[in-house]
Amino acid sequence: MNRFKIRTEVRFNVNALDTLYEFNGKSAVIITDKFMISSGLINKITDKMQGYKNIAIFDEITPDPTTELIAKGLKFITENGGEIVIALGGGSAIDAAKAIVLMGEKSGMGDLKLIAIPTTSGTGSEVTKFAVVTDTAEGRKYPLVDEQLIPDLAILDPELVLSAPPSVTADTGMDVITHAFEALVSLSNNDASDALAEKALLLAFKYLPFAFKHGDDIVAREKMHSASCLAGMAFNEVGLGINHGIAHALGAKFHIPHGRANALLLPHVIRYNAHLRACFGNNPTDAAERYADIARKIGLPHDNVRIAVESLIEEIKHMMRRMDMPATLWEAGVTKEQFKAERENIIRSALEDACTATNPREVDAAGIERILSHITPDLD
Ligand SMILES: NC(=O)c1ccc[n+]([C@@H]2O[C@H](COP(=O)([O-])OP(=O)(O)OC[C@H]3O[C@@H](n4cnc5c(N)ncnc54)[C@H](O)[C@@H]3O)[C@@H](O)[C@H]2O)c1
Ligand SMILES: [Fe+2]
Repeated sequence: MNRFKIRTEVRFNVNALDTLYEFNGKSAVIITDKFMISSGLINKITDKMQGYKNIAIFDEITPDPTTELIAKGLKFITENGGEIVIALGGGSAIDAAKAIVLMGEKSGMGDLKLIAIPTTSGTGSEVTKFAVVTDTAEGRKYPLVDEQLIPDLAILDPELVLSAPPSVTADTGMDVITHAFEALVSLSNNDASDALAEKALLLAFKYLPFAFKHGDDIVAREKMHSASCLAGMAFNEVGLGINHGIAHALGAKFHIPHGRANALLLPHVIRYNAHLRACFGNNPTDAAERYADIARKIGLPHDNVRIAVESLIEEIKHMMRRMDMPATLWEAGVTKEQFKAERENIIRSALEDACTATNPREVDAAGIERILSHITPDLD
């Protein structure tokens, strides 16, 4: 039996922020980062909240929220009350707010309404049951997974993404593409998740290069915001894979932005999962056929499955080069010594990561080492 559930109500595009008027008279806590305050983006939100009883702002979010930050945020909402919690920012602000609200509810604060307002088109966190938290003491990133983490409402306003610089657009956009591919080939995939993942991929391959080059193009921003949310809906139900398993480990050890870590790995994970050697005798794996189908739909050469998968891998590498993204860990700022010191820990974390379970091809330490070898060339 397959099942599919979308719990979050999504309001999107023109006037979506007007939704905030519906909560006039309530008290709210906004969880965000300092950039949203200094850039004035916060005003687009608070302007719609003039009728609220009270607004308190916790602006201490930093990329890749830590357990300490979650504890600080919990103290803030406990002291400031609030019937509504508004998460404003990228995946880091939304994940932190989700974890804070869950802990608040578990510690007896009653039901809090969580409204997620993403300012990056990347994680899809506004519709997922995942919140990725970094444990600094252990040097690990954990995806918390709990139905209660799913936001009640998501407001997608592409104007809030216009200010994202090209590097953030590239990193987060590649996160969208990785989510959609991992959902598409997940062991748990189904027709509903396929539809969402496929649409997310068609939108992202078409609009990410535009959004990168012309950050002020509202149509490109709107389409990437949709792609991000659709990919989030897809993987929320069917999980991710080894790309995220390894990316979490790399992110925790080397502080590489999440989407950039995913992008580095993606061409090599596609090759690993497609398992092209199995295509000999004209017997491609299901994952290979699925990758090939996307290659065909985005107009790449697709004479046979092998050619289609190879063209898809080349297209992704080409897209990354055009967006000035690194192709190796060294280009991403990690030294060979740092990598060697952490290699075993990274492999262990990736194998234990909750995302790895739905990877279409079985993975062991040797498989992860093989994937890593492609982004760590000339390592003696
Ligand atoms: N919950 C999930 O389902 C899920 C899925 C994937 C990733 N994640 C997690 O989400 C986090 C990454 O989120 P992210 O990629 O959105 O990045 P982020 O939230 O860490 O933000 C990256 C940077 O972009 C800035 N920024 C955000 N919006 C901006 C805007 N509109 N204009 C200018 N600057 C802006 C932020 O201030 C920050 O400096 C990671 O911790 C990752 O592990 C969660
Ligand atoms: Fe991700």
